[in-house]
Parts: sequence; structure tokens; C-alpha cells
Amino acid sequence: MRRFAAVVCCLMAGPLVTPAEAGDFFKGRQLYAQHCSRCHGNDGKPVLPGTPNLSRGEGLLAPDQVLLRSLRFGKGSMPGFEALLRGKELYDVLIYVRSLHR
Ligand code: HEC
Repeated sequence: MRRFAAVVCCLMAGPLVTPAEAGDFFKGRQLYAQHCSRCHGNDGKPVLPGTPNLSRGEGLLAPDQVLLRSLRFGKGSMPGFEALLRGKELYDVLIYVRSLHR
């Protein structure tokens, strides 16, 4: 359902679509479990102290381009994922991370 909504949204938004809306939620969930949950927790509630609580939307206020840069090059004690996540995978994981805030 969420995916359907994203597709409809993309169709309507046309060229205005942002990278995170073009990501694949299910692929992102897989990548998150693999690379991110050890610090950010399965549901975005932090495991590592000092990590933003993604389930409360902490760390998610910045625009996609800013967050993508943090993911690629790292921020504070978060390592960069440039070598592990390539191209579209970064958008996949970002769309999933944005969904953790409910
Ligand atoms: C080693 C632990 C660790 C791992 C692994 C990790 N993070 Fe983080 N993450 C952090 C910490 C700590 C911060 C806070 C950094 C700061 O603001 O100084 C952070 C910040 C963030 C932010 C906010 C960035 C910003 O620009 O404010 C996002 C979004 C995020 N992480 C997503 C992810 C995703 C997605 C992954 C997996 C690809 C991931 N993190 C992997 C520890 C981690």
C-alpha cells in the first residue's frame, strides 16, 4: 500500500520527484537491517548512545541531499557508507529511514 502510494505520488509529481521518493522501500529495509540497525536499532530507536532517534524523526529534518551526504561520507561517529552503498542503494535506504518516523 505504501509502495502504491509512492508510485501514484511519483506519477503525479513527474519531474519534481526527489531522489528519496524514487527509492525502493523493500530494498532499503534490507540494506538498513544489514548496515544501520546495529547502531540505529531495527525500528529506529537507538542502540548506540548519541545516535539520533529516527523513530521520533530526529536527524531526519534535513533535505535528502544533506542526508545523502551524511550517509556517503559519514557524520560525527557515524561512518561513511560510500564503499558499501552504491548509487540507487543510497536512495533505497533513505526512503526506508524516512518511513521509520511514525
Ligand atoms: C556506528 C554506528 C552507526 C551506524 C552503523 C549508522 N549510523 Fe547513522 N548515525 C550514527 C550517529 C552517532 C549519528 C549522529 C551523528 C552526528 O550528528 O554527529 C548518526 C546520524 C544519522 C542520520 C542523521 C544524519 C544527519 O545529517 O543529521 C541519519 C539519517 C542516519 N544516521 C542514518 C543511517 C543509515 C541509513 C545507516 C546505514 C546505512 C546508518 N545511519 C548507520 C551512528 C550510526
